[in-house]
Amino acid sequence: MIQMKEFTFQYDTGKKPALKNIDLEIHDGDFVGIIGNSGAGKSTLTYAINGIVPHYYPGDFYGSVLVDGMDTVDTAPEQLAVKVGSVFQDVDAQMVATYVEDELLFGMENFGVPKDEIEARLTEALQKTGIPDLRFREIDSLSGGQKQKVAVAAIIALRPDIIVLDEPTGELDPESSDQIFQMLKFLNETYGTTIIVVEQKVGLLCGYAKRLVLLEQGEIILEGPVREVLKNADRMEEIGIHVPRVVSLYKELVQRDLFRGEAPIGLEEAETMVREVLS
Ligand SMILES: Nc1ncnc2c1ncn2[C@@H]1O[C@H](COP(=O)(O)OP(=O)(O)OP(=O)(O)O)[C@@H](O)[C@H]1O
Ligand SMILES: [Mg+2]
Repeated sequence: MIQMKEFTFQYDTGKKPALKNIDLEIHDGDFVGIIGNSGAGKSTLTYAINGIVPHYYPGDFYGSVLVDGMDTVDTAPEQLAVKVGSVFQDVDAQMVATYVEDELLFGMENFGVPKDEIEARLTEALQKTGIPDLRFREIDSLSGGQKQKVAVAAIIALRPDIIVLDEPTGELDPESSDQIFQMLKFLNETYGTTIIVVEQKVGLLCGYAKRLVLLEQGEIILEGPVREVLKNADRMEEIGIHVPRVVSLYKELVQRDLFRGEAPIGLEEAETMVREVLS
């Protein structure tokens, strides 16, 4: 479990706190989507979980962040990394190897994955991210989207209890983005992996996440089950968050008194809504 209590953080070089008074609990097996405008503090929230803040980016740190009971301030980031796998917003900064295969092997060897499991995990991770054909490629020769998939593959091969991803689909087309989320869903359901993902594509996110956290200028302004948060679609639009199109359609139908059910999440529920309206 991750527990943030009255957590406030201001980077040493920052003029104001990047995060203010954050109270947040993320339970084992949860699937949490982090949304918010640029500069809202999404990346900083992920850094607080993997210990980058305050260990690599120092600053004024108030309150507490506990990961499985470990206080992140007193825990070395290397030790946290065993629990928390991270895919960073800047994937280039994340890559350590020259070849794709070595990128995955490096992590697994570092984390002491048993030798007889390595090949199976390598193959599964590449398969699940849809890049088995990239195994022997040079990382420098890959596109941004391909690198994102490699970064995700390298983390899932480690099977950490918690995976934090910061805009992992930023350079991916809709189909590949969906593939990444299906893979996260698989990990969440199969291994009970806790997933925390920053994502701009709110529509995509809502089809997979169980809970949403909306940050605005360093504060949590909405938090809860996806359906509950989406009830505030107007407020979200006001601050410039693009709500899923099915939610806009839902609002329209409710306004015209054509539909009375709950807001749909994902395409299947949207389809059910439309069928009901048409019938
Ligand atoms: N390394 C840093 N040093 C100083 N200030 C920083 C640093 N990283 C982020 N900030 C500041 O902290 C605030 C929150 O930034 P953060 O990167 O967490 O936001 P974000 O929601 O991830 O934004 P984006 O959508 O652009 O990635 C911003 O005001 C930003 O300028
Ligand atoms: Mg960011």
